[in-house]
Amino acid sequence: MEKSVQNLVWALKFPVVLTYTVALKLKNRHMNNAENYLVHQKDFFRSGFLQDKSDKFASVRRKISEYALLGGKCRALDIATGQGDQAISLKDAGFLHTYAIDVVPERVDYCRRIHCGSGIEFRHMDASALDFEDDYFDSVVVSAALHDMPVSVRRKVISEMARVAKGYVVIFEPRTFRNRIAAFLYGHFGSFVDESLNFRDYVSEDLDSVLVDSGLKVVSEEHIWMGMMSIKVCQKMNAGSRIRTHVGTKPVDIPPILFC
Ligand SMILES: C[S@@+](CC[C@H](N)C(=O)[O-])C[C@H]1O[C@@H](n2cnc3c(N)ncnc32)[C@H](O)[C@@H]1O
Repeated sequence: MEKSVQNLVWALKFPVVLTYTVALKLKNRHMNNAENYLVHQKDFFRSGFLQDKSDKFASVRRKISEYALLGGKCRALDIATGQGDQAISLKDAGFLHTYAIDVVPERVDYCRRIHCGSGIEFRHMDASALDFEDDYFDSVVVSAALHDMPVSVRRKVISEMARVAKGYVVIFEPRTFRNRIAAFLYGHFGSFVDESLNFRDYVSEDLDSVLVDSGLKVVSEEHIWMGMMSIKVCQKMNAGSRIRTHVGTKPVDIPPILFC
């Protein structure tokens, strides 16, 4: 199906999805903490009617992937991949090896089915305990998922992303606000339309400090998607160091990409 048709389908389905979202959030309203937020995530995202190949963020995927390429083009990881749209974009942008993880098994199965033959490695995994070694990826990307998590889980996930990234972490999420009125208004709007039970906490958190605590420096930020979302490009603080080796007796710098 054409992307434009997919987006039309998404717009037509929006009232149904919104009703489903509100009803499920009422049912699961107490499931916003670290112990049980995954119950709500699994309840919401395993639903078959969300699996329709439409992507409301189609217009920004390429830009996110291009930021990710700043880290090199060997290995990329897409955290909380959902339907795999960002993972596909990373691969299309030129990454040689793309991995994508999600905590809901139905979503991973769906990705394996619809993106079969893409060469992307889809794995069932919790982003707060990544089963990858330190500095394994040139870049790690997360899109539209951190705002679903309670604060303590979000911090663990950010620290895990920083651990497995060698170069860059790119974060595409709803905007956060220091201004209390803006945070209040956007937080209430988002808590109504979005599936997250933690939207309000998310938009008022000082995300940049959390990133710094995890060893990530925000090198650029762009407000996008009608000003409602932001792309933060973060560099790992010790990134940029190149691997020193010897050719004959001379030490030379080898760019990490040669070890792909
Ligand atoms: C709104 S969807 C976003 C999907 C996708 N990244 C996108 O841009 O369309 C949020 C996704 O986060 C996943 N998720 C939530 N908590 C997670 C966790 N701790 N580990 C991995 N995935 C998680 C959910 O299963 C869901 O697929």
